[in-house]
Amino acid sequence: MISFPSDYYICNMSISVSNISKYYGTQKALNNVSIEVASGEIVGFLGPNGAGKSTLMKIITGYIPANLGTANICGMLVDAYATKFRSKIGYLPEHNPLYPEMYIREYLGIVAGFYRLNNKKEKVEKVIEITGLTPEAHKKIGALSKGYRQRVGLAQALIHDPEVLILDEPTSGLDPNQLNDIRNLITGISTNKTVLLSTHIMQEVEAICNRVIIINNGSIIADGSTQRIKEMSLGLGQQVELATLEPLDTKYLTELSFVASVKLETANRCIITSATEADIRPMLFKMAVEKKLTIISLYEQSRTIENVFRDLTR
Ligand SMILES: Nc1ncnc2c1ncn2[C@@H]1O[C@H](COP(=O)(O)OP(=O)(O)OP(=O)(O)O)[C@@H](O)[C@H]1O
Ligand SMILES: [Mg+2]
Repeated sequence: MISFPSDYYICNMSISVSNISKYYGTQKALNNVSIEVASGEIVGFLGPNGAGKSTLMKIITGYIPANLGTANICGMLVDAYATKFRSKIGYLPEHNPLYPEMYIREYLGIVAGFYRLNNKKEKVEKVIEITGLTPEAHKKIGALSKGYRQRVGLAQALIHDPEVLILDEPTSGLDPNQLNDIRNLITGISTNKTVLLSTHIMQEVEAICNRVIIINNGSIIADGSTQRIKEMSLGLGQQVELATLEPLDTKYLTELSFVASVKLETANRCIITSATEADIRPMLFKMAVEKKLTIISLYEQSRTIENVFRDLTR
């Protein structure tokens, strides 16, 4: 696992997961997972489909038990029979299960009742305002658009003002406007909360998270600040996309001294990873002139979390 523990001065753990393993029958979904999230961190939880993100989130929120290991929220043990930790945690599950026949206020009132909140009506109105539900607040949940349903999901996760938010793909399937609104909403509400958020949208992580954890096949494979994870792509060597009018000779390119590897995308377009510290674009240009190739594109791929994600989880 690639980890940068020195990025964090760990003092006040909001989420602490120790050596968790989870089996579904004989299938191991989580393999000895440990993570620590300090108060105030916004953590992007990434991993390919089936990596174990939702499983870990369900365990942290007490919805399913682990086979081995423990989870703590704000120092309180997560246990199916414990109730105390639940007031500290808000959870937006994957697929956001809601009751379509209920009115928004009716549903949020019931959730407020689960948490035995005082001034229920006031809390419902406040969370409706925070989540931007006001214009639709008179409607039944079933009549809402996906973006507004997502706001109802966030509202039920926030109504008891928890310290920790676990959001499982909160922006999946939203149009670009709603996506932006929900992202801003999460950024706004997370100023005084700890957030663990799973997503498949890498730009989202770069935009709102200060830390990234990557899971693959049930094991954590990278953990560090967003900046440090991005810098990991430096280790991959400079990556340059080269496209020419003529078909490319992969064998010839691979044998060039400054080339580490060549990935052919189409017959005349490839991604070249450099084997040197120097910028290889001038060398590729010279090579193209010598080989009488017509360059139609030659640019350096930016160092992104997506590149690191692909490299680690391929
Ligand atoms: N209730 C279940 N019974 C059996 N297997 C399950 C169950 N829930 C999850 N799994 C399996 O556990 C593995 C991890 O699933 P999980 O839903 O945690 O992945 P994920 O990272 O959330 O994926 P996605 O990005 O698709 O949401 C998968 O192989 C999945 O099929
Ligand atoms: Mg999932």
